[in-house]
Amino acid sequence: MVKRIKVTQKKPVSWLAPKGLVQTAIKAMQAALFGAYADRRETIAALSPHETDSDTKPISYANERELWFDYIADTGDGWDATYAVACLVGEDTLDVAGADRRLKRGAFTILGGDEVYPTATREDYQERLIDPFWCAHATDDEPPKVYALPGNHDWYDGLTSFMRLFLQLDRKIGPWQAHQRRTYFAIELPHNWWIWGVDVQLESDIDAPQVEYFKHYADKLTRSDRVILCTPEPSWVEGADDKYRKLKNIKIKTHENLVFLEDLIHKAGAKIPLRIAGDLHHYARYEGRDRKDQLITCGGGGAFLHSTHPLPDSVNLISTFGQWFDKKVVSPSAAWCKQQRKKVFLRIWDNHGFALAVAAIYAFYAWVLEAASEGLVDYPAPHLSLFDYFAQKSDCPIVPWSRVTSHSLFALLLTLAIVIGPAVYGIKMKRFATSSTWPVIGGLLHGAAHLFTAIYLMWLFSSWGSYHFLFGLVPIFFLGLFFGTFYMALYLYLANLLYDGHDEEVFSCQAITDYKCFARFHLTRKGLTLYPIGLATVPKAWRPAEVALGLPPQKIGGELTYDLSAPDNLKRIFEPDPPGALQPRLIEPPIKIG
Ligand SMILES: [Fe+2]
Repeated sequence: MVKRIKVTQKKPVSWLAPKGLVQTAIKAMQAALFGAYADRRETIAALSPHETDSDTKPISYANERELWFDYIADTGDGWDATYAVACLVGEDTLDVAGADRRLKRGAFTILGGDEVYPTATREDYQERLIDPFWCAHATDDEPPKVYALPGNHDWYDGLTSFMRLFLQLDRKIGPWQAHQRRTYFAIELPHNWWIWGVDVQLESDIDAPQVEYFKHYADKLTRSDRVILCTPEPSWVEGADDKYRKLKNIKIKTHENLVFLEDLIHKAGAKIPLRIAGDLHHYARYEGRDRKDQLITCGGGGAFLHSTHPLPDSVNLISTFGQWFDKKVVSPSAAWCKQQRKKVFLRIWDNHGFALAVAAIYAFYAWVLEAASEGLVDYPAPHLSLFDYFAQKSDCPIVPWSRVTSHSLFALLLTLAIVIGPAVYGIKMKRFATSSTWPVIGGLLHGAAHLFTAIYLMWLFSSWGSYHFLFGLVPIFFLGLFFGTFYMALYLYLANLLYDGHDEEVFSCQAITDYKCFARFHLTRKGLTLYPIGLATVPKAWRPAEVALGLPPQKIGGELTYDLSAPDNLKRIFEPDPPGALQPRLIEPPIKIG
């Protein structure tokens, strides 16, 4: 049998692109509103009564003598990274540098949240998640299962696409077969182990049916049981540090929601030796001071890299009876991240849409001021517009600018937006910031730098507009493109350097595809072992397998589209180029859990 493959190898999402930012913001607002008025989880629960109410079999692997399973989070961004991880996860057995054995593919894979970027649409799920997973492995006679948690990006369409993909039992993501009916799950493992996957709906709450669901499974727990808790966010990092709690309250709520579930487990006498989450796109492990409990962030499934250097050295969970956890291993290293931070000055230029948008704002602002000045009778001077007046170079530009601005409401509002907008941006994106004051000051200084540069560019190039003022906008546009983009890079760099601000943006605008990771587990009667598998370098080129035939790929907008035919038992449709570029390694020695 022959199968046809038509795929586009997507570029990573450009996180500073205005179109993407606006779309994501609108989707996020819609999702928040939707969640407030109609919680899709409750609808799902009403349509699909859980195991206590129906003859649906519980998800159970309890009869297996040994079990392999995988955990991936934050997949579905650019092709290179997602496909590379999918290839590794899909291999029947994996030879990993540093491992004491060949690691067998999991009987099931958990997708830990943010399965797709930037927003949850049918197209993005298809092209950024399903296609790379489908091309990475042929369908098996005994397909492995997949269980997925929705992250905030999956929630952006109110879970419509997520439900279609993961809550219908016949659906497949490559060879992985969907096997859940809710957006959360409890999986029974052999040897008294469980996995609980929790859906916290955009950091807001845990719905009543979900609470009932987990209460039902809490009743099954005994004192010898151990639970792996999977959450879409590492609340221990973002909400568990005392200093952080004072800065941002919402994450505390996320963690308090989890505390309720953790209490159910603790009351049954069971233990939670491992909490694992994605959302932060790196690997980080915190170990309890009892040297038994682990908190692991493993969000390297495909999305852009997050830095590790702002992570706190120790965290204290309110649900672990005062136990502190110390940071043991991070990947990539903090030192590497600090070096990479400097590259924002170069890599920000990859965000063409952002640079053009900033340039357009500079030119638009000049145009608004010029138009506003023409409406004034006697100022800046009789029968002179602002450009004409500037061309005389007879006065400090600030004085006439301030008069024009104060006479035009629109010019005034635009001026305020240019200064205050960056301050709001700084406040909203202060996740790991060590100060709540500096994000405001830094943002205002950032905005002021743009404002005064725009004014002085008008002053400098006003004579270019002597024939028609629109000609004067040309140098303002191009120099605005340069200065505006440079100021953004400088702001992100300094904010991160001085007060750990914008940890995400200083890296997301670089769209780093390297340092991917996922977790492979091996459970036997002797215990649970976690193999943290990393890929320091992701291949940047792929060639079709020799038996995959078709026309040369079409290249549109930097993305290759292939239309191929291949035997349907072909495992990988694309191989790394050069061969051998896919080199997994253990991030740290295997970890015994529990
Ligand atoms: Fe994510």
